[in-house]
Amino acid sequence: MKIKATVLCENCVYSNLGALAEHGWSIFLETDQGNFLFDTGQGLALLNNARVFKKDLASVRGILLSHHHIDHTGGLRSALSVTQKVNVYAHPDLFKESYLTRGPKTKYIGIPFSRIELESQGANFMFNTEFKEIAPGMYLTGEVPRKTDFEIGDLDQVIKSGDEFIKDPMRDDQSLIIKTEKGLFVILGCSHAGIINILDYAREMTGETRIHAVIGGTHLGPVSQEQREKSIMALKAFDIERLGVSHCTGLPASLRLAQEFKERFFFCNVGTVVEA
Ligand SMILES: [Fe+2]
Ligand SMILES: [Fe+2]
Repeated sequence: MKIKATVLCENCVYSNLGALAEHGWSIFLETDQGNFLFDTGQGLALLNNARVFKKDLASVRGILLSHHHIDHTGGLRSALSVTQKVNVYAHPDLFKESYLTRGPKTKYIGIPFSRIELESQGANFMFNTEFKEIAPGMYLTGEVPRKTDFEIGDLDQVIKSGDEFIKDPMRDDQSLIIKTEKGLFVILGCSHAGIINILDYAREMTGETRIHAVIGGTHLGPVSQEQREKSIMALKAFDIERLGVSHCTGLPASLRLAQEFKERFFFCNVGTVVEA
């Protein structure tokens, strides 16, 4: 499959007049199987940036959601206002309630809409828990097996269990894998399943060992220094040609990745285009 990915929502804008930054993540995908939207940002920037980069949201064949967090799902209602009736691919935990305990106050960070509200706006939910083909050569990972012992994730992301908060296992975290002539093109949401687990699973399920490009949130920002270093070292063992991180990677982890990956590293912020 041929693919052109344009970042519509991300935390930074560089050299693009009129574009807006927000804490969020969204990619417009143009492929030979049609156009798709992967994630929707938090809802402040999507429509503006689609206009700025001349991406017609009405043309998308499907909206793919990496997980339930508001910074990936908050733009869904605005997207539906343009697409009207459209398939929305997501894990069935999309509507779970979850919270962030980092900072002075516990904050709600789940999807800010009800299922009924979204369906009334045209969303046709297609839920998956397993590896799923969306179009020939294009797959959502579904739940990613957790194999590494160091990718324990973000301890501040929690769900309620009775009167207590417990760590959100983030079973719903999934990534998009596209088979291209140059190897796999992997689009991460926030890598809550662990970037190493995700890349391992992508290779296992597609039978393709070459990884051409990896873009998206690595969540190496909010995890422990120990986990970050182990992940970066394990990442070096994959033969990744282009690594474009952003969003929940944060500056210190991005700098470390830039040191290790040198010219293969790039910032993947609003307006970045990656083709394969
Ligand atoms: Fe995120
Ligand atoms: Fe997230």
